Amino acid sequence: MTKLPKPPPDIATLTKPKAKIELMRLRLSIEGHDKAYYQDDAPKISDADYDALRRRLEAIEQKFPELVSASSPTQTVGAAPARGFAKVQHAVPMLSLGNAFADDEVTEFVERVQRFLKLDDVPAIVAEPKIDGLSLSLRYEHGELVRAATRGDGFTGEDVTANVRTIVDVPNTLKGKHIPAACELRGEVYMLKQDFLALNKRQEEAGETVFANPRNSAAGSLRQKDVEVTRSRPLKFFAYAWGEMSDYPMEEPTQHKMLQWLAHAGFVVNPEITLCHSVEDALAFYRRIGEQRASLPYDIDGVVYKVDRLDYQARLGFVSRSPRWAIAHKFAAEQATTVLEKIDIQVGRTGAMTPVARLQPVTVGGVVVQNATLHNEDYIKELDIHLGDTVVVQRAGDVIPQIVSVVLDKRPAGAEPYHFPHKCPVCGSHAVREEGEAVWRCTGALICPAQAVERLKHFVSRLAFDIDGLGEKQIELFHERGWVQEPADIFTLKSRNAELKLEQLEGYGETSVRNLFAAIDARRTIELHRLIFALGIRHVGEGNAKLLARHYGTRDAFLTAMRAAADAQTEEGNASEAYQDLDNIAGIGDVVAEAVVEFFAEERNIKALNALLDELTEVLPAEQARRDTAVAGKIVVFTGSLSKFTRDEAKATAERLGAKVAGSVSKKTDYVVAGEDAGSKLTKAKDLGVTVLTEDEWLALIGG
Ligand code: IVH
Repeated sequence: MTKLPKPPPDIATLTKPKAKIELMRLRLSIEGHDKAYYQDDAPKISDADYDALRRRLEAIEQKFPELVSASSPTQTVGAAPARGFAKVQHAVPMLSLGNAFADDEVTEFVERVQRFLKLDDVPAIVAEPKIDGLSLSLRYEHGELVRAATRGDGFTGEDVTANVRTIVDVPNTLKGKHIPAACELRGEVYMLKQDFLALNKRQEEAGETVFANPRNSAAGSLRQKDVEVTRSRPLKFFAYAWGEMSDYPMEEPTQHKMLQWLAHAGFVVNPEITLCHSVEDALAFYRRIGEQRASLPYDIDGVVYKVDRLDYQARLGFVSRSPRWAIAHKFAAEQATTVLEKIDIQVGRTGAMTPVARLQPVTVGGVVVQNATLHNEDYIKELDIHLGDTVVVQRAGDVIPQIVSVVLDKRPAGAEPYHFPHKCPVCGSHAVREEGEAVWRCTGALICPAQAVERLKHFVSRLAFDIDGLGEKQIELFHERGWVQEPADIFTLKSRNAELKLEQLEGYGETSVRNLFAAIDARRTIELHRLIFALGIRHVGEGNAKLLARHYGTRDAFLTAMRAAADAQTEEGNASEAYQDLDNIAGIGDVVAEAVVEFFAEERNIKALNALLDELTEVLPAEQARRDTAVAGKIVVFTGSLSKFTRDEAKATAERLGAKVAGSVSKKTDYVVAGEDAGSKLTKAKDLGVTVLTEDEWLALIGG
């Protein structure tokens, strides 16, 4: 892989000055990756590559112990806590585990334990799946959860108590007898693979962060500033360890008895955990769980072996950052190389366009992979992916295969970089990528088959057409049968019924069909704001729909202005008067204005809208503004700090009197009402010769 630097020099021949330089480089690199992993939840390299970096650092430090500094990653754990959450000092540090990759290393671990304890026989060992999530420490006082903290750097973590209280698997109160006065119970927060996939799908469609794997999505979900966001994420928790215990809830405590106690106290303990009595038993567990790995509902990245007796654990103690009584037996990284044949675009139910790599089939960790997600345009650019490239595929966290890098050496001559399409592959509508967003979206809101069901459900929803007897379920059914593809089809159901025979559907009869048609007919007369809202234009919720309806007043005024803004868009960009007028509506920002224009710039939407309008009898104008006041029809801008009324009051009064309140000054503005410290808007008004009023003058104008 040419992305990797040339092989590092052999440690055996490394001189001390060279070692010093390399240690520094490795430290910086590991620290950077720790930060990416622990703080940003966005690792930049695979776990295997990370482990390789650490191993090399350890090997060099072993050869030159005098070069080990206190700040070396071997002397610290993880990364300092991220900003934003209060810091929590762990009463007992949350350390990490030494790694074993080969069977021999496990044998050596057990032998080391025996030597240390001077035991002839292999001590009982608990083998636990190593859950790939993030560790959490829960402090209970008198059985009540008082604090939850992430690991952070092992000594200081982040206070995530409020967020953790939303996790169903974490009891607020411990159950049963023998509850120690104070205890820190620990384990892993994780997300089920299926929940991660569903979350990512939602995120992708909403244009939000997509997570690389369940671990990152668990970490990202836990560390939300808004507790409600965490609550909406399906986080789970396995208990497997503890920190400070004021006393133990049993005589002669052992790891396996403690796990039983944790289960009795109300925690979820991993059901696979097994007590082993020989190295062979332990390795058999590793192999069995390795085979089950793909079918387990959560991600694991290895097995943890722990000496069962806690008195042995206490005697064994710790060496630097990890216990002598436990070791992690990691699975080999699951990566493979294959050829990227093409990239397809999948269109989600809200129009989000997601690139999917089609690969020459390759087996990664026992599973044949043919598709891999590429997330979005930036991801493809970052990896510099060309069609025909040989790529490294990884089954990240077991579930979604990902492309992690390109093997540049194998790039075929003349391979073209991939250009993200600016057209929806499903309906042909043009696509847009909003500023600050990673996602391209299809603008064919009304007609794109990929979006149809969602759009139709929205169309009939309560704040839109609100048709009695036509809810989400019916829409799904009618769409599945091919009866309703776009809004107009709802209104032609009746005339097509000789052929469709709705009354023959299960659950329908003559009466319910008659009622449904009557309800549909009743909606042939609709208020303008409901119509606008029903179109499902991005960013146009009920509030914005009302603003637009009020501003333009009638169906025709609205449609004419929108067509004008959209038509002018190609030639004049956003400089047209129609666009400026739209953008000037108080409460309508650039993002909304652009989304509206994109909708009307799509011919397919116009066609569908016209078909719908043909079916409607009347679009009721917005609440008629009063026409008999001094400011009716005038465009007013309020600026500066107002002392006689609040900005909202001023706006409401002006609108009640038939004025339009705009957010910025243009040559169409009639009045600028300037309070104290008015700035650029006042200057602009003066430049354009717009009438400027004081608050009192305004009050006088509108009659107090
Ligand atoms: S025991 C003192 N048991 O692995 C060691 N850790 O590399 C306490 N992990 O930070 C950890 N499953 O996040 C332990 N069954 C398990 C585990 C487990 C996952 C994670 C945990 C820890 C990391 C250590």
